[in-house]
Amino acid sequence: MQRYLDADIDATPLAGKTIGIFGYGNQACPQALNLKDGGYSVVIGLRTGSPHRETAEQSGFSVLDIPEVVKQADLLMLLVPDDQCAPVYDAHIRTSEKTGLAIGFAHGLCLQAGWLKPDPRHDIFLVAPKGQGRGVRQKFQDGSGVPGLVAVHQDVSGNTEALAMAYAKAIGCAHTGVFQTSVSEETISDLFSEQTVLCGGLTRLIRMAYETLIEAGFSAPVAYFECLYEVKLIADLIHEKGIAGMREGISSAALFGDIHEGDRVIDSHVRENMRQTLARIQSGEFFQAFQAEIDSGFPEVRDAMLKDRAHSIEQAHRLLH
Ligand SMILES: NC(=O)c1ccc[n+]([C@@H]2O[C@H](COP(=O)([O-])OP(=O)(O)OC[C@H]3O[C@@H](n4cnc5c(N)ncnc54)[C@H](OP(=O)(O)O)[C@@H]3O)[C@@H](O)[C@H]2O)c1
Repeated sequence: MQRYLDADIDATPLAGKTIGIFGYGNQACPQALNLKDGGYSVVIGLRTGSPHRETAEQSGFSVLDIPEVVKQADLLMLLVPDDQCAPVYDAHIRTSEKTGLAIGFAHGLCLQAGWLKPDPRHDIFLVAPKGQGRGVRQKFQDGSGVPGLVAVHQDVSGNTEALAMAYAKAIGCAHTGVFQTSVSEETISDLFSEQTVLCGGLTRLIRMAYETLIEAGFSAPVAYFECLYEVKLIADLIHEKGIAGMREGISSAALFGDIHEGDRVIDSHVRENMRQTLARIQSGEFFQAFQAEIDSGFPEVRDAMLKDRAHSIEQAHRLLH
């Protein structure tokens, strides 16, 4: 897989274009600021009554109603929540008679789930920064940049890949590396990692370890330090040096414990569970469950978040924050 850096990507396809950013949230705000710093012409599209209008205006952006952005911009980035991409597209972009529009997303979920069925007139692409919005801004400012994945979903003009690569470069991804993928590969792998490692897996691992210590009579602050607080230290080490590098930097007891006990804790049952999770995403079962949750107003999510707040690990967390 080729790694594209700044010098490998032609910025010309984006030159002189007006970029319309929909939303001003986690991804939209940093991407818009990076583009502005790079000298690109950016307009922000927000709905009436948006609480982000003032902040965007204070940062020097022209903030317009969404239909006006569709009229003015050549390239539209839909940086609104994934479940809102299709409603926004259907209401404001599909209905536009304008030709030559290119539409970009920061994640392929709405396309892969089949929620958004693109109009055949539009170029459709993905530029997915592999990091949170604040990292997209911070790393752009310090010159490092978060890596990004680029995919072309629908190419009418014949220019979509070049445009998407230029956009990835403009928001800073090519400082570290831009990689080409497909919407399917980006979406499925992103959801899989969220469910098994980053969100679903890590939180269960932390809580289960914490609860095991509490059950055995350890105090909450001590259990919190060992099972949650120190996660960042090891995650940072793995992020910087890889797993082998992390192992070279820890104590001999930690290293032996890792190698001797790790496979017993995370055993073959977990691997089988991961395979089933991947299969549920690939078959579309996850999309159906998520759609049902959206349609009923997120009851499962709200219930879990209420329970989260009541867990004693959160009280221990507040001791330090
Ligand atoms: N979160 C991340 O760091 C991250 C990382 C990688 C990729 N992504 C992807 O980036 C995309 C955006 O995610 P995000 O987390 O940045 O979203 P977000 O912060 O939740 O987006 C909030 C913005 O979207 C606007 N919005 C919401 N519903 C809207 C609607 N129906 N019509 C018009 N505007 C609407 C909000 O409007 P108001 O101003 O009116 O509230 C707000 O400005 C998603 O595809 C996501 O998967 C996110």
